[in-house]
Amino acid sequence: MFTILEKRSLAEGIWLMKINAPRVAHAALPGQFVIVRATERGERIPLTIADFDAAEGSVTIVTQAIGVSTRKLCALEAGDALVDFAGPLGRPSEFVSLPLDELRRRRYLFIGGGVGTAPVYPQVKWLHDRGVEVDVIIGAKTRDMLIYTDEMRAVASHLHIATDDGSEGFKGLVTALLDELVARGARYDECVAIGPMVMMKFVALATRKHALKTTVSLNALMVDGTGMCGACRVTVGGKTRFTCVEGPEFDGHEVDFDEAMRRQGMYRSEEQRRAAIEAERAAGHVCRIGLDK
Ligand code: NAD
Ligand code: FES
Repeated sequence: MFTILEKRSLAEGIWLMKINAPRVAHAALPGQFVIVRATERGERIPLTIADFDAAEGSVTIVTQAIGVSTRKLCALEAGDALVDFAGPLGRPSEFVSLPLDELRRRRYLFIGGGVGTAPVYPQVKWLHDRGVEVDVIIGAKTRDMLIYTDEMRAVASHLHIATDDGSEGFKGLVTALLDELVARGARYDECVAIGPMVMMKFVALATRKHALKTTVSLNALMVDGTGMCGACRVTVGGKTRFTCVEGPEFDGHEVDFDEAMRRQGMYRSEEQRRAAIEAERAAGHVCRIGLDK
């Protein structure tokens, strides 16, 4: 049973859950993800791993309650159990396979945007534990939506915070802060960006300007997570790639973000339709058309 060992709120609508999943915790590496189902007939939700502890047998996930399925997941409490917790899936981050002496000569910049900050953490922690210099930018709309700041401060060489409204740290988008750091003389060998697709698109455009290699983690829609259904397809370097088995991390300068965002938008309207039907049902209407339960 994938029991929820701990549940806590990180910001409005954003929940951290520590799940008992020893096999996944033992095999997990930075960059990988899991597919979870909250209930027997629930949808499969792909989530990039936000932490793992092999000794404790736990895996941490961070979820924003934005649709029907994520709201059902976030409604569960500590002591409840998830019906499925499949993983670790996808390829680990490329740096995991680099020789340690080479890694220690490199300087990384990680950029986490909003909820995407959570999956940045295990990567920075893994590098920090091996003596690699890592700077981190965390971006959020406003101070109250910042997550993982204390955890990140403990593992980052330098932590920079940006809020859109200036309520904490730099006032502006993560891309503006990135430009400012580079203008002030900061030099990096690689940037890793995880967050909303639009942020990753504009980070990739900014880093291209600075000739800075950039890796992004794509949160494409997924169904089976095994490379069979094609739901997670994206175009990278002009070729079709399946995020679930060939990603989730890709060269940010090669990703067709506009297509990826169009595909996300296509499914968002389906999710909105389901949410509307759920709301009707909650209001006492019994029409079941279009719902699987
Ligand atoms: P958000 O909209 O609050 O954005 C976070 C930060 O990203 C902003 O503060 C800003 O600095 C930057 N940003 C946003 N738009 C930008 C732009 N046009 N140019 C430059 N920078 C920009 O983030 P949110 O509401 O937490 O976003 C949630 C999204 O993150 C969801 O779509 C979710 O699917 C995605 N997500 C992705 C992953 C992943 O693995 N890639 C993981 C978790 C969540
Ligand atoms: Fe089906 Fe990737 S989720 S092929």
